[in-house]
Amino acid sequence: MEDSQKRANWSGHLGFVLAAAASAVGLGNLWRFPASAATYGGGIFLCIYFLLFLTFGVFMMITEIAIGRATRLSAIKAFSSLNGKWAVTGWLGTLVPILILPYYCVIGGWVTEYFFRYLVSPGLPASEGFFSSFTSNTGEVFMMFAVFTIPAFAFIFAGVKRGIETSNSVLMPMLLALTVGIAAFTVTRPGASEGLKYLLVPNFSCLFVDGSFSFSMLSKIVLAAMGQMFFSLSIAMGILITYGSYMPKKSDITRSSLKIGLIDTLVAVLAGLIIIPPAYTYGGEELARTAGIKLMFVSLPQVFSAMPAGHIVAVAFFALCLFAALTSAVSMAETVVASVCDLTKLSRVSATTLTVGYVAIAAVPSAMSIDFLGKTDFVTNSVLMPVCAFLTCIFVGWVAGTEFIRREATAEGVRFRAYPAYRIVMRYFAPLMILLILAACLGLI
Ligand code: ALA
Repeated sequence: MEDSQKRANWSGHLGFVLAAAASAVGLGNLWRFPASAATYGGGIFLCIYFLLFLTFGVFMMITEIAIGRATRLSAIKAFSSLNGKWAVTGWLGTLVPILILPYYCVIGGWVTEYFFRYLVSPGLPASEGFFSSFTSNTGEVFMMFAVFTIPAFAFIFAGVKRGIETSNSVLMPMLLALTVGIAAFTVTRPGASEGLKYLLVPNFSCLFVDGSFSFSMLSKIVLAAMGQMFFSLSIAMGILITYGSYMPKKSDITRSSLKIGLIDTLVAVLAGLIIIPPAYTYGGEELARTAGIKLMFVSLPQVFSAMPAGHIVAVAFFALCLFAALTSAVSMAETVVASVCDLTKLSRVSATTLTVGYVAIAAVPSAMSIDFLGKTDFVTNSVLMPVCAFLTCIFVGWVAGTEFIRREATAEGVRFRAYPAYRIVMRYFAPLMILLILAACLGLI
């Protein structure tokens, strides 16, 4: 009891929404969403994503935030305080940022390198072999890793309100302004309309194979949209439980979740407007469908070098990536630190120091091998996150009962109008859909 009274709090509703939106908006919005939309039928993917977000993603967010706020604890302790047998769900979720954070910070270092390179020698990042020579220079990779990681942890050292909330209240508006500004520039370039059509107009032909409707293609699109939604909304990573544990009682969990998800989706769609039209103009369909590391660090620099004023767009774009990666890394680091504090009763400063040490050591394999990074990504996204989300649904839907979430979401007289739908989704629809993603990710269907 004493602990929960001492727990930090966001200064209010806006502080929480900004922090959770800053966590959600990350590299996933920039290097995965646009390419997935381009690959899976443009507008079809966008509609399915939005529908899934409204029927399912937002309910998962409500669940995790409510668990955090009700218990005032980070994921592992939250689950074990609700039911000792279910602590494993908290462990699985917390393992995700523990595994992702080191490599996310390595990639944050690459983004930092590109940002500074574009400032001082704009021609270099697009030159042949730049990415491979940079990533094989371990000393340089480590230096940029440190340049990225030190400020991220400085915010954690400074505390929830003074560090995380204050930095988000500066970085998030800058991130949103950059996103809107770059998108406005790229969509008004000559020839952008073709790429825009490719991104936004539903391409129904991708649902047909040899002239007949392909159910397996439709399921592929749904699964891709759902996997993207999990990573992007920071679901099943312990983050929303931790951030929820700092949320004031008077804040409306349902409306906050909707706002966070809408900001995240808006940035993802704007990232599509930034990336797809120029990628389509200068590299055609194949380039527009490129995702991940290759897109960001190899293909886009070439697109920028072909575009008029491309190096200015590149500086703005890598600044945007830097802010997005930094605020997401902060949320993962906070989740790990909060778990260490809750589990060990170490002070925040000691827990943060321990986490920094861990990240510096665990980053070594990712900094030395892109393959290792890809494998970790597979384990977290395709195994740990779906399993954790599945267990969360079963726990809330069948063990603790959805009534417990309703009580928390309606604290201090707030309404939860969608509760009847929430109950059905958490008990039946969500677990079934998650089982399908898991089976698809593991190549079982
Ligand atoms: N939600 C964060 C991202 O999309 C982790 O990168």
